[in-house]
Amino acid sequence: MNDIMTPEKINIIPNENSKIHEIDFDNLVFGKKFSDHMFVMEYEKGSWGQPLIRPYGPVQISPALNTLHYGQAIFEGMKAFYVDEDTINIYRPKDHFERMNYSSRRMGIPETDYETFITALEELIKLDHRFVPTQDQSALYIRPFVFASDDLLAARSSTKFSYYIITSPVGAYYEEGFNPVSLTTTNEYVRAVVGGTGDVKTAGNYAASFLPAKKAKEDGYTQVLWLDAKEHKYVEEVGTMNIHFLIGNTLVTPKLTGSILGGITRRSVTSLAEEWGYNVEERRITIDEVFEASENGTLKEVFGSGTAAVISPVGLIHHQGRKIDFGIDSIGEFAKSLYDEITGIQYGRIEDRHNWIHTVKV
Ligand code: COI
Repeated sequence: MNDIMTPEKINIIPNENSKIHEIDFDNLVFGKKFSDHMFVMEYEKGSWGQPLIRPYGPVQISPALNTLHYGQAIFEGMKAFYVDEDTINIYRPKDHFERMNYSSRRMGIPETDYETFITALEELIKLDHRFVPTQDQSALYIRPFVFASDDLLAARSSTKFSYYIITSPVGAYYEEGFNPVSLTTTNEYVRAVVGGTGDVKTAGNYAASFLPAKKAKEDGYTQVLWLDAKEHKYVEEVGTMNIHFLIGNTLVTPKLTGSILGGITRRSVTSLAEEWGYNVEERRITIDEVFEASENGTLKEVFGSGTAAVISPVGLIHHQGRKIDFGIDSIGEFAKSLYDEITGIQYGRIEDRHNWIHTVKV
């Protein structure tokens, strides 16, 4: 193997046994297959060490690893898109980077620098550009994550951390693709409390939602629509995406109160809606208000937004035996326009007026 030192000082050990032939690009399952390379950097004695890109592969860990026991870990989810054989677009990397450090601060994890982050992404995409799918609704999902790597069973912050970036060619996140998903509220569980960790991307938030999500699925719903933990009446998010309501000519998006993840696609949605002349309200909204708007005919559309989910129309909401049913095939015009605009910008078909795209020449 030959080691290359880039001008940005990321050591690169190229993969000499590509797994590209194992990828069925026409039937991509979300997050199941990975590109040939990954980024690694270790933190020890108060500073980050030498960044390295090496072949994707297993990581050796101790059974006493802090993360396995106490979950001191954060992650990001972002995407890169095929434009043409020389050009790949990364969507809003600076915003994802800033949210990653926001998550790190909350979880007592050392922050990282943008230069290393963006250089790592560029190098990974150049090395693995053949893994970026060319198919419709597909992208290269990028998963940066940082986890505590002390081998110590004492319940306190780690002193060592590992920072990885892996990438995965993906298709649509939900089985439904761009077709509407169905959501149910739950009285039994809560996702996050104000002052907790619901507004950061940390591992445990997701683990805690798996059982409620499984129960929702058994009852025939795609996902849980989370209500606030205190009063059980304000709509928060879906866990895998943020939620939006088009009521009359007003886009209502639950306000970030501290227990909702500040989605990057959520931000794109509110910016575009404002530009398109809609009233945009970021405020608390009760589930009762949503049902009232449905009953009086002003609830036009409900949809989710997220990196993995992109824009996902909601066809049905169940809450305590009552249902709002838009019909299984109903894709609202507004959600469709947002989907077309956002994906148009991502795939380079629509001009990037907002400076959301970071282009990589491969
Ligand atoms: C993302 O949208 O990137 C996420 O991290 C959500 C995850 C559940 C796939």
